[in-house]
Amino acid sequence: MAFTIAIDGPAAAGKGTISKAVATHFGFGHLDTGLLYRAVGAKMLDGDDPVTAAEALDVSDLDREDLRTPEVAQAASKVAVIAAVRAALVDFQRAFARRSGGAVMDGRDIGTVICPEAEAKLFVTASAEVRARRRFLELTGKGSVITLDEVLADVKARDERDMNRAEAPLRPADDAVIVDTSTLTIDEAVAQAIAAIEARQ
Ligand code: C5P
Repeated sequence: MAFTIAIDGPAAAGKGTISKAVATHFGFGHLDTGLLYRAVGAKMLDGDDPVTAAEALDVSDLDREDLRTPEVAQAASKVAVIAAVRAALVDFQRAFARRSGGAVMDGRDIGTVICPEAEAKLFVTASAEVRARRRFLELTGKGSVITLDEVLADVKARDERDMNRAEAPLRPADDAVIVDTSTLTIDEAVAQAIAAIEARQ
């Protein structure tokens, strides 16, 4: 039986962590749709045309080592404003969403555009300062040399671009449950997410 859980929200709000935990809890597959845009962004930085790159995207492109860098994140949010890039990625996402055995999809427009019929929708958010601090700790933990101010500027620039674009802007679906993780531990956020999903089952 197909059961789709849509988890949207801004950068570094905890979507990825919550999505993985939710997928494990329910035994569902998980697709981080941001990786698709990051893979296209990385190809644009290589000099490729983003629309051609999106149309030719292959799952092996999602294994590139550099997809988690701040440069690729910015490039991802730039290619994500292009309607033809978004259109090229729709079929792959919808096919994954309806896979038998259930799917957790995390992104920006899953509940609003990709899977408006999703059985459960969450919008995971947190203040920009909390999100920047989390991303800063994650990046410096991996050895990146970057300041908190740079990470905060990066997070705000992406929020701005993601929320104000014409095509599939970042916003909660009308029927999404909002999970604000600003003052929650990971375990508390995961428990809230699971409780909200179980209420829809
Ligand atoms: O979630 P992540 O930070 O990996 O996403 C990178 C960028 O990809 C986002 O800033 C956003 O511009 C874009 N994106 C999107 N739609 C999605 C997932 C990601 O536009 N469903």
